[in-house]
Amino acid sequence: MPRTQTVKDYIRTIVDFPHEGIMFRDVTTLFADPRGFRMAIDQMLHPYAGQQIDKVVGLEARGFILGGAIAHQLSKGFVPVRKKGKLPAATIAEEYKLEYGEAVVEIHDDALSPGDNVLIVDDLLATGGTAAAGIKLCERLGAEVIGCAFIVDLPDLGGRTKLDEMGIDVHALCEFAGA
Ligand code: PRP
Ligand code: MG
Repeated sequence: MPRTQTVKDYIRTIVDFPHEGIMFRDVTTLFADPRGFRMAIDQMLHPYAGQQIDKVVGLEARGFILGGAIAHQLSKGFVPVRKKGKLPAATIAEEYKLEYGEAVVEIHDDALSPGDNVLIVDDLLATGGTAAAGIKLCERLGAEVIGCAFIVDLPDLGGRTKLDEMGIDVHALCEFAGA
C-alpha cells in the first residue's frame, strides 16, 4: 500500500528561484490539492484547539490564503498585514530587513482591540523578519499573540530562534534543513 502523503510531500521545490542558489519552497502545489490543503489547515489549527482566538492575522501574500481558510474554520474575523501603501484607512507600520534593503508592513490601526487574542499565519518562516514585524504590529494595538503558525520552517535561517526570543509560540508543519 502506498505511504500516506504528508503536508511536506505536496510542497514543490524550484531550484534557483528567484535567483541562483535559492531552493524555493512552492506551496501552490499544496494549496491546489484538496486533501493537501485541508490537511494543512487542520494541522495548523491543531495545537490551538480549545484556546480562545479572537482574530486571525494573515501576512501578505500567502498568509492571506491560509488565514482566510483558518478564520472561516474558527468562525472568527480575518485581519491582513499588508505591504506598505495597500491598506486604505489609517495604519501603523513596521520596518524589517530583507536580504537587500528594507521593507515595510502595515495594519489598519482599528483592526485589533486591546486584549484580543490573535493567531498569526503565514506560509513560511525564514529569517523571521516578516513575522516579527507582524507580531510587533499586533502588540502595538494591544493584542496578545497566542501563536504564529506556518507551513514551512527553514531552521537554518534563524526565524524560530528570533520568535522564541520574543516569547512567541511557533508552530510549523515541516522543516527544510540546509535552506
Ligand atoms: C516570503 C514568505 C514569508 C517571508 C518569510 O514572503 O511568504 O512571508 O518571505 O521570510 P522571512 O522569515 O525572512 O521574513 P515574501 O516576502 O517573499 O512575499 P510574498 O509572500 O508577498 O510573496
Ligand atoms: Mg510572504
